[in-house]
Parts: sequence; C-alpha cells; structure tokens
Amino acid sequence: MRILVCKNYDEMSKKAAQMILSQVTLKPNSVLGLATGSTPIGMYKELVKMYNEKLIDFSEVSTFNLDEYYNLPKTSDQSYDYFMRVNLFNHINVKNENIHIPNGMASNVELECETYDKQIKESGGVDIQVLGIGHNAHIGFNEPTINFERGTHLVDLKESTIEANARFFEKIEDVPKKAITMGTGSIFKARKIMLLACGDSKADAIYNTVYGKVIPEVPASILQFHNDIVLILDEAAASKLN
Ligand code: F6R
Repeated sequence: MRILVCKNYDEMSKKAAQMILSQVTLKPNSVLGLATGSTPIGMYKELVKMYNEKLIDFSEVSTFNLDEYYNLPKTSDQSYDYFMRVNLFNHINVKNENIHIPNGMASNVELECETYDKQIKESGGVDIQVLGIGHNAHIGFNEPTINFERGTHLVDLKESTIEANARFFEKIEDVPKKAITMGTGSIFKARKIMLLACGDSKADAIYNTVYGKVIPEVPASILQFHNDIVLILDEAAASKLN
C-alpha cells in the first residue's frame, strides 16, 4: 500500500486527476472504475479542466461506476447517474455507450448484477478504480458485514450511511435504503486502485484500513492485500497514521 499525504483537498484532487491522466495517456482505451460522493468532485473538476486544455482525450475510454441507489430513477437529481453526468460526463468526450452505471430501476436485480459483472469482464477489466471511503470503512456500498461479497449485488444500507447521505436529500426519509454495488471482489480485481479520503471524520476508517485486521467488518481492510494501491489523503484523513 502506498500512501500519499497531501496538504489539502485541492492537492489531493490534483494528484488523483494526474494519476487518471497518466493512465489514459499510456492506455487511451482504459477502463476506469469511478466513484461518486463528495470526495472525488475536485478530481472530476480537474479532469474537466485537463480535457478543456486538450491534455486528455476520453474518446476511447470506458467507465464503470461502483454503485447506484436502488429504486431511484436515474433522472432524479440524487441518482448517481445524474451526479456523474453533471460532474464529469457532460463535460468530456466519453462516448455514451462506453458509460456503465448499475440500473437501480432494473426489474430483475439479479440479472442486472450478473450483466454488470459480465460487462466489466468483457471490457477487459478495470484498469484503475477510484474509491472513496465511508466513515465505517465501506467501499462502494459494501457495508461492514460478516463476509466479503464477490460480485455486484443489492445491499441494505446501514443506518449510519443513510444518515451520512441525508445531507443530499430534503429529508432523511427520502434517502434510499438499498443500493446496487460492485462487490469487494469486483473492486479488488482492478489492476490499480486509488482510494481518496479527506477530513478528520475519515481518520479512523483510514487507520483501520491501513493497520487494522483484514475483516469484512472493515470492508476497506481487504485493500491491504492488493498489489497496486495508493491512498491519496489530506493531512486530516492521514492524522491517525503516525
Ligand atoms: C460512492 C461510494 C461510496 C463513497 C463513500 C464516501 O460511489 O461508493 O463508497 O465513496 O460513501 O462518500 P463521500 O465521498 O461523500 O464522503
């Protein structure tokens, strides 16, 4: 595990965007695994800036998002589909047919999950996976539980995650209680992983990810076994590591 500590959120976002830039420069048809949430927004802004400056070309890139809320239409301004279009896809030249986000409205969820895993495999697999981390060390929406889930699946969100996500909704009752997420197994298969975290509210999760036991109660702890992972942190998120 490599750990990069940045002065602040802006530096973290720039470093993260530079990693995507080198990935796409070296392999123009890269498969990017993408995350939503507040943490990667700065990185997406940097990528849009790089695109406008003609430093990066997404025309051959494919993307797979980690997760999507269950039973929330993608037209909702709280859907992850909407988030990705507003923060990144609407501003770059990625082809619509190369964008993949789980369909939270699928009538057959099991089939949707199977198809998603198949599409990742057929694309050649994720070259670089961007991750945020929950306060409880969830990655994607793999919540603390008693076993590591392999593939894409439907998950019940923990109360603490629902509370954390309530900031984006009018009232807490509106926050979806379930989501479709890539499994820890699917995440782990990415050739490279880049986990971003900022703020002291993530410091315990980061400490447990780096130094804790590898257990499904701390989903991100499995990343200790990955052979090409970098944690890009601001000083506050890294504050418990020394
Ligand atoms: C989002 C996702 C989640 C978030 C995590 C942190 O696609 O998979 O695991 O990365 O909940 O969210 P923020 O960045 O809002 O603190």
